[in-house]
Amino acid sequence: MGVLAPRKREQVMPLPVVLISTVGKDGVRNVAPWSCITPILRPFNDLLLASWIKRDTLSNIRETGEFVVNVPPVELAEAVMICSRNYPPEVDEFEEAGLKPRPSQAVKPPGVEGCLAWAECTLVEEIRRERYSLVIGKVVHLEADDRFFNEAGEMDYERAKPLTVILGDGGMWFTRPVFAGRYADYAEMFLNKKDEAPAFADENG
Ligand SMILES: Cc1cc2nc3c(=O)[nH]c(=O)nc-3n(C[C@H](O)[C@H](O)[C@H](O)COP(=O)(O)O)c2cc1C
Repeated sequence: MGVLAPRKREQVMPLPVVLISTVGKDGVRNVAPWSCITPILRPFNDLLLASWIKRDTLSNIRETGEFVVNVPPVELAEAVMICSRNYPPEVDEFEEAGLKPRPSQAVKPPGVEGCLAWAECTLVEEIRRERYSLVIGKVVHLEADDRFFNEAGEMDYERAKPLTVILGDGGMWFTRPVFAGRYADYAEMFLNKKDEAPAFADENG
């Protein structure tokens, strides 16, 4: 068993890939890929993302208090990499990457057409550190593409092919989830066989 060097730490777990769309106060649209993002517990009412300070995305969220978390399928991997380039703030990544904007319902930034789901968010709190910030957002509106979700709203991930990533030494492998052969009911987690998450949602909803 090897002790991993600090530079390898980022490589030990697969990460999600989302596209965050924002607009600046000057109206310029921005899209950037993000992996350091997590729901704050179930059922995804709040989420948290980690951002280096030098990000147009962070500046726009500070300026407008709004952003959209778009969940891209594997087909958008090329566009993801175009959006990851360090363009200056006046560049519109929708245009650079040939992405089609999708009007949002509750916030000003448009979503990205062709994605699987769109979480429209407002800024709740920014936790500032010297070199990075943690942004807590509230999901104020959530939509998903019916073609990839069944009537219960569950993702058909084999057809949807949501994008994930595994980091390496000199680059990253884009990947996607496949079924591991085990389905588990939430109730299995509880000795009384009752899922406690809905109670949490009621308390905080
Ligand atoms: C797959 C992937 C995931 C990324 N995740 C993050 C992240 O979690 N936080 C971050 O600050 N930058 C992340 N980046 C880098 C930004 O996407 C990149 O710096 C981009 O140019 C930022 O654009 P902006 O300045 O328009 O916000 C990621 C890049 C890629 C390709």
